[in-house]
Amino acid sequence: MPRPISLTQYLIEQQRQNGSIPAELRLLIEVVARACKRISISVNKGALGDVMGSADSENVQGEIQKKLDIIANEVLIEANEWGGHLAAMASEEMEGIYVVPNRFPQGEYLLLFDPLDGSSNIDVNVSIGTIFSVLKKSSSDEGVSERDFLQAGSQQAAAGYCIYGPQTMLVLTVGEGVVMFTLDREQGAWMLTQEGIRIPEDTKEFAINMSNMRHWAPPVSRYVNECLAGETGPRAKDFNMRWVASMVADVHRILTRGGVFMYPWDKREPEKAGKLRLMYEANPMSFIVEQAGGAATNGKARILDLQPGKLHERVAVFLGSKNEVERVTGYHREAV
Ligand code: AHG
Ligand code: MN
Ligand code: MN
Repeated sequence: MPRPISLTQYLIEQQRQNGSIPAELRLLIEVVARACKRISISVNKGALGDVMGSADSENVQGEIQKKLDIIANEVLIEANEWGGHLAAMASEEMEGIYVVPNRFPQGEYLLLFDPLDGSSNIDVNVSIGTIFSVLKKSSSDEGVSERDFLQAGSQQAAAGYCIYGPQTMLVLTVGEGVVMFTLDREQGAWMLTQEGIRIPEDTKEFAINMSNMRHWAPPVSRYVNECLAGETGPRAKDFNMRWVASMVADVHRILTRGGVFMYPWDKREPEKAGKLRLMYEANPMSFIVEQAGGAATNGKARILDLQPGKLHERVAVFLGSKNEVERVTGYHREAV
């Protein structure tokens, strides 16, 4: 069996071997990983830790916040604000950016996160997660503003997620492929358990919330109907369907065995581009998926090329096995 490698050792070795991880970025990743460990402890305590159910508040998207949304947000801020590696943070749970207070040194990095992804699954004991994206401040000017955050996903220095499931795992990319760590609770350490993750280019599995079918645009209906037609349909194979309702869990399955994940625009709220948020859900997941050989589009363009107009911008998402993402994207292009 190969020698076990911890996250710390992995990051230091990467830094030595190819200099791909600057010291400040390494610190940032370690701090986020430590915060995820703390979130994982709260998640595991469940009703014993008074972390279940809703808080009496709404976030900027008008969604009722769960207690764990707020706890996870606070844990990430507290862990990250003092280390000197960040200029500011942004979160699904905060309307504006959180600038590192003056009493701490300011670094060059910007951290965005979805502190708790899959909130509707907290109370039913199904996998949830934390998603994060790291950018570098674009200007060297003093101070930091929301404008510094509005960079295309292709500019991300790192991205990752932590999944709180049967195992607690950390999945990470710094633009050199995708690696997975599993939390060893006895040691309190993240141990490398898989590297060189590759998503198969073809798949027989799709993930979409089928209850929205009547609201979809024609290219999405066409793609899903062809999958549903199975062996005797145009795709000439039977497809399986999965939908966890935690993007983290659906993407984790796709990284593990392939598949395509879709959260398209639909007619329920036609003025919104989609449900998922570009900067702290779609961008980090698209970076990870591309680094694993998959693809990610909004039906028309590569997600990582999109120029965000605002922090909480929404986007349609098609990601996973390359050939399927290209097919459903092609159907959108043909429909124009
Ligand atoms: P969040 O809990 O951070 O608001 O994200 C939930 C997202 C995503 O994780 C999931 O894929 C999707 O919402 C599920 O949406 P539906 O309930 O509409 O299926
Ligand atoms: Mn989310
Ligand atoms: Mn969330």
